[in-house]
Amino acid sequence: MSKGRVLSGMRPTGRLHLGHYRGVLANWLKLQSEYECFFFVADWHALTTDYADPKAIKENIREMVIDWLSVGIDPKAAAVFRQSQIKEHAELYVLLGMITPLSWLERNPTYKEQLSEITGKDLHNFGFLGYPVLQTADIIIYKADRVPVGVDQAPHLELSREITRRFNHLYGEVFPEPATLLTQVPKILGTDGRKMSKSYNNAIFLTDEPKVIEGKILQMVTDTARKRRQDPGNPDVCPFFITYHNLYSDEPARAGAREGCAKASIGCIECKRSVLPKLIEDLAPIRTARAAIEADPSIVDAVLKDGGRRAHEAANKTMHDVRRAMGLE
Ligand code: TRP
Ligand code: SF4
Repeated sequence: MSKGRVLSGMRPTGRLHLGHYRGVLANWLKLQSEYECFFFVADWHALTTDYADPKAIKENIREMVIDWLSVGIDPKAAAVFRQSQIKEHAELYVLLGMITPLSWLERNPTYKEQLSEITGKDLHNFGFLGYPVLQTADIIIYKADRVPVGVDQAPHLELSREITRRFNHLYGEVFPEPATLLTQVPKILGTDGRKMSKSYNNAIFLTDEPKVIEGKILQMVTDTARKRRQDPGNPDVCPFFITYHNLYSDEPARAGAREGCAKASIGCIECKRSVLPKLIEDLAPIRTARAAIEADPSIVDAVLKDGGRRAHEAANKTMHDVRRAMGLE
């Protein structure tokens, strides 16, 4: 009985935060015991936007992989590797590029949105337009049948299925159609009340020391209408409540905070202090694990080497099928 195959990747953005952990990575941790998993660092994808300034990528890869391992991604269960280790991704990308209509890429909503939203970088390059083609190659080269991603990636995955169908239609059934495993991400807001994101400067990083976490939490915005201690508040619009009571409090504690806030019988500091130890406790083992990994710089290299070997084996096998189907072998 073969388990299904799961593949997912992240662009190397450096150190990860609580949003990555409780969103994407919590899901990967569950999947790694149930499926044959491939988790990779999309370093070529990072170049689609950061081609002019690639210096940070190397360090970002390392930091991100350390975070993956620190939260418990098990490199024996899952193959952990870098995209650029497996040159076959590039070969399949070229071939898929031949059969992908430009119109499919140009009407991709994520593409249009990012083109207008990302400022300070010229994104009118071929690689950025072709981003979903490379992503499709990443997925189907492992014949992955399940791809866990957040909603933001759903349009890309839809495109991947279209490209896969077109390939199978033209050259015969080589690839399974990859299904999207939509990750239900709990709402994790940053200290300013917006979605937690490194680029907003509002994140709690997995590497933050308890004192740093405390400082960030105590400064975090709450119900902005609750100006003074004696004003009643509304937990449903409080970014702190929405994120942290929902993540870390049991039902009685949550109900208690809800009532205390609405009746102004507790202050925001007290409310925050009731949750803070649980957040700190949640992240402590991750920092401990990180320290052990950082103490031996060969660990990350060994993980990527072994993961790369296993990924290469699978990718190489698929490329034989592809070349045969296309008359290239
Ligand atoms: N585009 C994804 C992101 O930004 C990263 C990615 C690249 C990916 N290739 C993939 C995710 C293949 C899933 C499958 O997060
Ligand atoms: Fe938010 Fe708690 Fe303050 Fe209410 S008491 S506004 S829930 S932090």
